[in-house]
Amino acid sequence: MANRSIAPRHFLQFNDFSREDFEYLFARARWIKAQFKSYKQYWPLVDRTLVMIFEKASTRTRLSFEAGMQQLGGSAIYLNTRDSQLGRGEPVEDAAQVISRMSDIVMIRTFEQEIIDRFAANSRVPVINGLTNEYHPCQILADIYTYIEHRGSIEGRTVAWVGDSNNVCNTWLQAAEVFGFNVHVSTPPGYEVEPERAGLYGTDHYEEFTDPMAAVRGADLVTTDVWTSMGFEAENEERLRDFQDWQVDAEMMREAKPDALFMHCLPAHRGEEVAAEVIDGLQSVVWDEAENRLHAQKALLEYLLIGRVNT
Ligand code: CP
Ligand code: NVA
Repeated sequence: MANRSIAPRHFLQFNDFSREDFEYLFARARWIKAQFKSYKQYWPLVDRTLVMIFEKASTRTRLSFEAGMQQLGGSAIYLNTRDSQLGRGEPVEDAAQVISRMSDIVMIRTFEQEIIDRFAANSRVPVINGLTNEYHPCQILADIYTYIEHRGSIEGRTVAWVGDSNNVCNTWLQAAEVFGFNVHVSTPPGYEVEPERAGLYGTDHYEEFTDPMAAVRGADLVTTDVWTSMGFEAENEERLRDFQDWQVDAEMMREAKPDALFMHCLPAHRGEEVAAEVIDGLQSVVWDEAENRLHAQKALLEYLLIGRVNT
């Protein structure tokens, strides 16, 4: 069982881990993926239980954590706000005390980062951020793993982010500081990056562009996300108008390097933030990106539960 007498390590923001931690996780993800692809059983987490708390909808995150935990020999329990006491005002601190006494690791998808921080401060077991309004660290863990699989090291490369400066964008910006790459961000006026909210140490690793075509010029990777994130639905109509010129289409992709990749965390809205010809085109690696959530998070679960093992 987990050693519950020592302070647990959490993954609440991307920069909670060092570059060296990530290099280790990528090596493990590669090995774990190879086992999975060759139908080899690998059960290091027998008797371990993951509790997954969802206060927002999910397909990929739920599936990759639940399937991943089962494939590692453990089990996963799904809780949501609708049919647990979490939606009826039980304090997050109390929920953390109780849930962490009955499980070995917890994954949470919620609204403000402050909620997951309070949960983690009261948890006896590791807590993983499965998306908050501010961050989506598991997504970028899988995305950088995917970039490396296709193109090798991301250090010194240029990532173009076109669209909303949301949770996924903030996490790319943190990752740029950890790995030493650059992000060219282009958002409509009024939707610019808020460095403090993004949890950045400085502004050395990103540059803002008013013109999305200029942001994409010469990029190694072009990426975007929905114009309206979960929790911001009331702004949908206004955002549809404001983001019109920030669609990643074929013309925009032509500004990037000829071998540039396209990524999107999904779910996507073809005809809004991305044109069908791009997401369904040859430069798109969105399906690898989605699949790699599984392999990368299995490495993360193993790391947080049993520490480093020899690859
Ligand atoms: N990309 C991602 O986190 O997808 P879900 O919302 O389906 O979990
Ligand atoms: N930015 C999106 C990501 C969904 C995976 C959202 O928060 O809704």
